[in-house]
Amino acid sequence: MSAPIDPTSTTAWAELDALRSALQPDLRGWFADDPQRVDRFTKQLVDLHVDLSKNLVDDEILAALVRLAEQTGVAERYARMLAGDHINTTEDRAVLHTALRRPVGISPELVVDGQHIDTDVHGVLDALSAFADKVRSGDWRGVSGKRVTHVVNIGIGGSDLGPVMIFEALKPYADAGIEARFVSNIDPTDIAQKTADLDPETTLFIVASKTFTTLETLTNARLARDWLWAGLIAAGAIEDADAAKTDAVAHHFVAVSTALDKVAAFGIDPANAFGFWDWVGGRYSVDSAIGLSLAIALGPDVFDELLAGFHAVDEHVRTTPLAENVPVLMGLFNVWYNNFLGAQSHAVLPYAQQLHRFPAYLQQLTMESNGKSVRWDGTPVTTDTGEVFWGEPGTNGQHAFYQLIHQGTRLIPADFIAFANPAYPLSDDGRDVHGLFLANFLAQTKALAFGKTAEEVEAEGTTGALVAARTFSGNRPTTSIFAPALTPSVLGQLIALYEHITFTQGTIWGINSFDQWGVELGKQLALRIAPAIEGDADAVATQDASTRALLEYYAQHRTR
Ligand code: F6P
Repeated sequence: MSAPIDPTSTTAWAELDALRSALQPDLRGWFADDPQRVDRFTKQLVDLHVDLSKNLVDDEILAALVRLAEQTGVAERYARMLAGDHINTTEDRAVLHTALRRPVGISPELVVDGQHIDTDVHGVLDALSAFADKVRSGDWRGVSGKRVTHVVNIGIGGSDLGPVMIFEALKPYADAGIEARFVSNIDPTDIAQKTADLDPETTLFIVASKTFTTLETLTNARLARDWLWAGLIAAGAIEDADAAKTDAVAHHFVAVSTALDKVAAFGIDPANAFGFWDWVGGRYSVDSAIGLSLAIALGPDVFDELLAGFHAVDEHVRTTPLAENVPVLMGLFNVWYNNFLGAQSHAVLPYAQQLHRFPAYLQQLTMESNGKSVRWDGTPVTTDTGEVFWGEPGTNGQHAFYQLIHQGTRLIPADFIAFANPAYPLSDDGRDVHGLFLANFLAQTKALAFGKTAEEVEAEGTTGALVAARTFSGNRPTTSIFAPALTPSVLGQLIALYEHITFTQGTIWGINSFDQWGVELGKQLALRIAPAIEGDADAVATQDASTRALLEYYAQHRTR
């Protein structure tokens, strides 16, 4: 693996530095002086209409950013990723989530490290669809012969955030009378509440874990198994005997993992396990078998449509010149805001209640990928990396934190995502409620870009100190992503868009966006602290003073 190119050593970086020094953001002026600005800065990404015109970027800045992508080898690295090179250097792995959505029959066939990737991917997809159909049709039944009404996905991080986000987004497509639920947290409240009203006879658990070693998931899987056995025995559905319990697990538990040996050791029949591969990162895995809960609740056709949306964006990235390449441009704009204009965070504001988990999903995707201080060759980064991603659906956010975006001291670039057609077209006294919703999306991006001058405030009759308080500076950058409707394909496109934005930023910064060593230390320490929690004096003694004091507090206050 070659050493990363230091972005700060490129001529493009120096140009951008000079452009930043000279920058006088003036979106009002830029729009007034340039009637073509909207056309030039609006791009089509498959079904997504992406309006970049309200960003603090002009043609010169755009050109210099594109040169930065060229000089740091973004296109070349993307090609290497698609080809299966081991660009995940710290784990010596290929990075092939894009292979999960290649349609059948693409030529040439993808063969990496001797593995026939396309054949394997479609083999699992076919098995997934067949199993989903069985559950949906009622061919697959619980141990007492009842149809499945609920699937409960037990997983965390990438084995949870994608499935739950997509299920929430595409719920209107759930057509088989099967509800999906998601248990992730090791806080016992999570599983207790999610199973409280379920019938064990009609519940199917999916244990989803890439490694099948994750403490939270395995603990919750054991709790679920105990809950299942206790419920079935209490209902008289099975006897309290080992053979009956094993049979119950075979009917009510399936698994998704790269570690099928560990699945078997847990007691789940390998025939009921769906595999994937170490070249799929957890946060990039929702389009692998990790999406099983979606294939069951929403249907294999919906899942296929989702994958087609992902693939269409992969193809855009592969075939479109950098200057027109939407994910690359959005990644470059993020670099501009982060490294040149001092932004530390980025808001994602879906105007779609169905996308209420999308910001949480993006937090793992972007921050676990790019929250790094060393580059892929182990040397320190040469500039700031990973900004904080956050957000909430509009209009709820408008009544909570938009104040800071409009009038705070920090620059917060924001992506607004909206759809022309709602899943639920309702009207209020003859007025289309979705139209009213969209008016808010348009109003917010307009207010952020163009603000309100003191003269405009005064013209409305405001005087004195209130004028300053009611003035809006404007020049607060936004990108508007508009699509006809939140279909499975459009959702796949949106997810792939952010995957490739993340890749672009990571490549420019020279970091490996596909490992996550930063989560390891806490996991190790939790295992060492667990005995101390149980009162083991030796384990307590090895802790630092603050942790010992907190353990003492716990010992004094626990009532169990
Ligand atoms: O703790 C981080 C992490 O490793 C994520 O990257 C991953 O998505 C999650 O844990 C769950 O891991 P697994 O799917 O192996 O249970």
